Amino acid sequence: MMNFNDKVIYQIYVKSFMDSNGDGLGDIAGITSRLSYLEKLGVDYLWLTPVFISPMNDNGYDVADYRKIDPSFGTMEDLEELIEEAKKRGMGIMLDMVFNHTSTAHEWFQKALLGDPKYKDYYIFKKGADGAPPTNWESKFGGNAWEYVPQFDEYYLHLFDKTQADLNWENEEVRKELYDIVNFWLDKGVSGFRFDVVNLISKPETYENDDLGDGRRFYTDGPKIHQYLKELNRKSFGQKEDSLTVGEMSSTSLENCVRYSNPSEKELSMVFNFHHLKVDYEKGDKWSLKPFDFQELKDIFDHWQTGMQEHQGNMALFYNNHDQPRVVSRFGNDKKYHKESAKMLATSIHMLRGIPYIYQGEEFGMTNAYFTSIHEYRDVESTNYYEILRKEGLPEERILEILQAKSRDNGRTPVLWNDEEGRGFTEGTPWIPFAKGPSVSAEKDMKEEDSIFSYYQKLIKLRKSNPVIQEGTYEILEKDHPSLFCYVRALGEKKVLVLNNFYDKEEEFSLINHGFPPVDERNVRLLLTNYNELCTKDEKICLRPYESVIISVEP
Ligand code: GLC
Repeated sequence: MMNFNDKVIYQIYVKSFMDSNGDGLGDIAGITSRLSYLEKLGVDYLWLTPVFISPMNDNGYDVADYRKIDPSFGTMEDLEELIEEAKKRGMGIMLDMVFNHTSTAHEWFQKALLGDPKYKDYYIFKKGADGAPPTNWESKFGGNAWEYVPQFDEYYLHLFDKTQADLNWENEEVRKELYDIVNFWLDKGVSGFRFDVVNLISKPETYENDDLGDGRRFYTDGPKIHQYLKELNRKSFGQKEDSLTVGEMSSTSLENCVRYSNPSEKELSMVFNFHHLKVDYEKGDKWSLKPFDFQELKDIFDHWQTGMQEHQGNMALFYNNHDQPRVVSRFGNDKKYHKESAKMLATSIHMLRGIPYIYQGEEFGMTNAYFTSIHEYRDVESTNYYEILRKEGLPEERILEILQAKSRDNGRTPVLWNDEEGRGFTEGTPWIPFAKGPSVSAEKDMKEEDSIFSYYQKLIKLRKSNPVIQEGTYEILEKDHPSLFCYVRALGEKKVLVLNNFYDKEEEFSLINHGFPPVDERNVRLLLTNYNELCTKDEKICLRPYESVIISVEP
């Protein structure tokens, strides 16, 4: 397996990226029309969220036909053209494979509902227990995870929406069908895949109530998960030396992630995990409000960086995606220090050990949606939880405040290309309102000399030109500092020191105390900062609000 440490990946949430035909929905031809922008940014791969036929109850994560393009996104020809045009510009296309479940509109599920035993066994149907569902497991989108089917007097499992039925990976024919789909897309020339919630595919042998939680401990990193991933690798993408794969791992463990991503295991190239994005959950509850716990964030990064390094696992580095609020509004300051904090947050992860991901709009500082009415939300998880929290008796205002901070729609508003009416995204009415936060746009940002965009270009170039950033070891410094996240990457005698101030109060970092020479020495070089020039006091570096400094030290 190749290593991808010099690559940077860009995630496109297709529905909100660029609309080419004025229907208010982003589409594949829209992506093609923006390729030179992406080339200019300097990214290597474009991961597209699902573009397959779907009833869109979960915006394409409910797939009804894995081999066909949904007409709202365009045609197969559009995708072929995108693959070809991207390739000409040195970029590969990655597709999103949703294999834990299919839409209930999928032909397999429809045949199952008609009682065809072959297809019924493609899914997980079980008898209820005393008039109740088979287990008390909860769906990730709220409510019980089982849906009753009267004609069978049985229930089917859905860990997500009730229109997303979990597939039965125990069934060899199911696995074969899925491998064939991967091979179908490889033949079309795609360069890689993102596998949706792939660590949930292996279910336990027996289904029992969870008296301690929502059921996840029974099916997360399940009993045959490594066996299935090895088989998937062997029977599909593993036959292409250079294909890139990333698995989305829900509530996973370090130990399992090492196995998923260590090249010698022959499973996947790298993994996403989400522990660092739960540091603003009160007692693990997403639907609560709490300022983010900075120390916990650092401790989690440190745990994963050192653990993956020790066992040669590979991590995807990210703060943003289509399921997360925008980080500049979440861990940064999107008002007074918008630019500074956007760049600082980018620095804090791009210099880590792993493979950085940029989520559309992040590269010019897009913020949360700041919606003020439930009618502006589109996401099934958000609208479900709105109802659940209402039933729990929370006042409307409080619920809206929680959604403003936590809804997945914060990351799903259309890309703000410019300041015109349709924001350069559409000539029609966008499917979801534009973000109402501070006014930002790609065009406005890129006109400025110190643009966020150009800072991202520099971070990408740094990674590509500096082996220490690609391969160096990682070590944290000032582990318990209340506002600094500092670490050093080292390769042989060469070092890269990364300093990030996560708050608006000025701090100092002593080079000498950490065994580094003062900045005026010949072998010390400033690689990048998000302020105009370095601020020093004697041998100390001062870190202004949300300042980042990257320094290289050579022997
Ligand atoms: C993943 C996707 C998310 C989707 C879910 C179910 O977490 O990122 O958008 O809702 O899986 O497919």
